[in-house]
Amino acid sequence: MGSWWRGAPCHLELLLAVILVGVVNRSDGGVTSGFVRKVEKTIDMPLDSDIFRVPPGYNAPQQVHITQGNLDGTAMIISWVTEDEPGSSEVLYGTDEDKLELSAEGKYTRYKFYNYTSGYIHHCTIRHLKYDTEYYYAVGIGHTVRKFWFTTPPAVGPDVPYTFGLIGDLGQSYDSNVTLTHYESNPKAQTVLFLGDLSYADNYPNHDNVRWDTWGRFIERSTAYQPWIWTAGNHEIDFAPNLGETVPFKPYRHRYHVPYRSSSSSSPFWYSIKRASAYIIVLASYSAYGKYTPQYKWLEAELPKVNRSETPWLIVLMHAPWYNSYNYHYMEGESMRVMYEPWFVKYKVDVVFAGHVHAYERSYRVSNIAYDIVNGKCEPVPDESAPVYITVGDGGNLEGLATNMTEPQPSYSAFRESSFGHAVFEIKNQTHAYYTWHRNQDGNAVAADSLWFYNSYWKTANEASAM
Ligand SMILES: [Fe+2]
Repeated sequence: MGSWWRGAPCHLELLLAVILVGVVNRSDGGVTSGFVRKVEKTIDMPLDSDIFRVPPGYNAPQQVHITQGNLDGTAMIISWVTEDEPGSSEVLYGTDEDKLELSAEGKYTRYKFYNYTSGYIHHCTIRHLKYDTEYYYAVGIGHTVRKFWFTTPPAVGPDVPYTFGLIGDLGQSYDSNVTLTHYESNPKAQTVLFLGDLSYADNYPNHDNVRWDTWGRFIERSTAYQPWIWTAGNHEIDFAPNLGETVPFKPYRHRYHVPYRSSSSSSPFWYSIKRASAYIIVLASYSAYGKYTPQYKWLEAELPKVNRSETPWLIVLMHAPWYNSYNYHYMEGESMRVMYEPWFVKYKVDVVFAGHVHAYERSYRVSNIAYDIVNGKCEPVPDESAPVYITVGDGGNLEGLATNMTEPQPSYSAFRESSFGHAVFEIKNQTHAYYTWHRNQDGNAVAADSLWFYNSYWKTANEASAM
């Protein structure tokens, strides 16, 4: 052996250190994952992909999707599109698959966007549903009938287990398809909380709205069977004055209805629902939220209404994250954070989910609400009354991953990784929930990040009563 071997122990230590740094890069903050992902470009599936297949039959309903239809989960909005003629807006439904005894009549709408004219977009709300019951429903009555099913949530109550999936910024690339398939492989997830940026049609020339249709057909395999709770993102704005399109959110508003009136909201972009043991507030990053605006006044009145004895879990959805340490969309959520963060701490929001940044990140419980212009207290600090902030903008759209992070990792950031994936929030009971994040490269059973949540409201209440 020559001199190389005599120096080997030193080399080995160095090598070991390099490997460890490669696995996890620790800093003042939490963990920046060193997971190495593929580097191929993320591209959309072609228009003739089988994923976008039009269902056979004359005027067959397509793009079928459902969402909660009222405040407490006893109604469902059923939506679909017909292309040849309006056809029927009726939904037949019932609990016996072979005998759909009930019916409801919906309405249809359509819109033009530049040189595109939509199909006939039907929306029908079916009401007075029983809790925790499997329903079958049929659409396309009179032409090509298609049948689907869903399960209603358990009655609203404090100790009701329920599992939500979290998907954001999905788009319609090959990676989007992997994300959706990965999500579907989880047998527990019952409802998707969608964090905005749906089809990415606006990335195409003239915002080619055909890509809204392909997206609707792509997701139907999930959205026809379980509700997706919608949050509007920037790719839903479709504001294009150069094309003569000056009404924001036109395609989104026509296609994706939400039950905003049942939570006394004046706009479909901010609203709330109760589902099982969760109270879910959806906020609008791209509607006015300053003081005196409709969204501000609504949220100010909404938060005190949340009864944590009835719905212990308070979850907020928005598109643009408030805490984001990637060099993409940096601080875009900052002005909304300044407006609403004191309320989130006061009302002990458990968790805030956002999208927009095409990566994954989870914060510690922090707040940054002490600043008064002159006191210099303008940094996030640990705060047990504050929510955990989680960015799940990693659905896999054609814009690709956000890979560039601010360095060093800020102290508020607990875990970050630039990979496509989805998350799951599994409520066990009034006090505990188990949260996991699943990167697309792993099998369903693998959680790349996980956290036990101890309910913020009841944790504090229990601590107070123990004193
Ligand atoms: Fe976005």
